[in-house]
Amino acid sequence: MVYSITLLVFFLLTITPISYGNLQDFATCMSFHTTSTSSSVVHSQQSSSYAYLLQESQQNPRWLNSTSLLKPSFIVTPKTQNEIQGAILCAKKHGLQVRVMSGGHDYEGLSFLCKNPFIILDLVDYRSINIDIENETAWIQSGATIGEVYYNIAKKSNTLGFPAGLCPSVGVGGHFSGGGIGTMMRKYGLAADNIIDASFVDANGRILNRGEMGENVFWAIRGGGGASFGVISAWKVKLVRVPSLVTVFTIHKRLDQEGVKLVHNWQYIASKLPEGLFIRVLIQQIDGVDCQGNVKQAEVLSIHSS
Ligand SMILES: Cc1cc2nc3c(=O)[nH]c(=O)nc-3n(C[C@H](O)[C@H](O)[C@H](O)COP(=O)(O)OP(=O)(O)OC[C@H]3O[C@@H](n4cnc5c(N)ncnc54)[C@H](O)[C@@H]3O)c2cc1C
Ligand SMILES: *[C@@H]1O[C@H](CO)[C@@H](O)[C@H](O)[C@H]1NC(C)=O
Ligand SMILES: *[C@@H]1O[C@H](CO)[C@@H](O)[C@H](O)[C@H]1NC(C)=O
Repeated sequence: MVYSITLLVFFLLTITPISYGNLQDFATCMSFHTTSTSSSVVHSQQSSSYAYLLQESQQNPRWLNSTSLLKPSFIVTPKTQNEIQGAILCAKKHGLQVRVMSGGHDYEGLSFLCKNPFIILDLVDYRSINIDIENETAWIQSGATIGEVYYNIAKKSNTLGFPAGLCPSVGVGGHFSGGGIGTMMRKYGLAADNIIDASFVDANGRILNRGEMGENVFWAIRGGGGASFGVISAWKVKLVRVPSLVTVFTIHKRLDQEGVKLVHNWQYIASKLPEGLFIRVLIQQIDGVDCQGNVKQAEVLSIHSS
């Protein structure tokens, strides 16, 4: 009995510690797909960068200190499209699932939680923004934040903008995949309505543009939800015309200042207002801080009723 337990323990110890966790194998696999040295791109649980990346990328601290949840075998931070492709193929080869992360703002933690062994494909180093003022378009890599998008457009033009969300740290990857509502939606629709091309890496590692993925897939990735179809590495968007001067105002009303009447009436007039006017009403228990951000693009009237 003792002998067999010893044997069992010995046997368990000598089993290679699950092949999908082997950094060398994974890094070697990655090097087949990349031109750069993949050591700076693949972060194992032993690398000093691992804990930092895991903490920095998750915008929702809810699961941060949980000891019961599985941590990714590797975090991969691609700098090129080939490395994105490589990560998908190598994960597949090693039996690992892939969680894609852009801005890390997912409410349910879908970009960094997984029940099975997995890697996080963290696009933190894949975030360049290339603006073509002449043609009023831009190519935006998914790791960029929407704040970076607005800032980069504003640096080049004060009469062009892009209709997307309010919170500047939201990532383009998840945001554009799910639609993207914001202050210009009445006039220009969702972020997804203004996407004209994309670079898409599918489960087989193929890199496809709009023509190659076909109109059905192109339709689905603009609103169908992040991580549903593959990795969208970059998006080509149509910029929209905005006035160089914008009026922004905030009105606070408490319940005893006819706050209820205001909200009631607002429901009847909101849809009849000119499209250039965006109104957001926040009904709050207590006075909170309102982060409206850099909305030079549309007029903002925010009515608070507490
Ligand atoms: C503080 C805050 C403010 C917000 N404000 C707004 C707002 O004003 N308007 C609005 O419309 N929404 C808003 N949202 C919602 C936000 O748009 C979504 O949560 C969005 O999915 C976040 O994208 P992300 O890239 O930051 O998140 P992530 O957690 O990185 O990704 C979200 C999901 O998309 C997947 N994904 C990420 N990148 C890619 C990619 N490149 N290819 C394929 N799948 C990918 C992930 O796997 C995950 O399932 C807000 C969210 C927060 C937390
Ligand atoms: C997680 O743990 C660190 C270190 O103990 C601590 O500083 C941090 O506040 C914790 N975060 C949460 C969300 O519990
Ligand atoms: C604008 O688009 C045209 C046609 O695609 C292209 O030839 C031109 O180089 C673009 N302009 C810039 C500044 O890239």
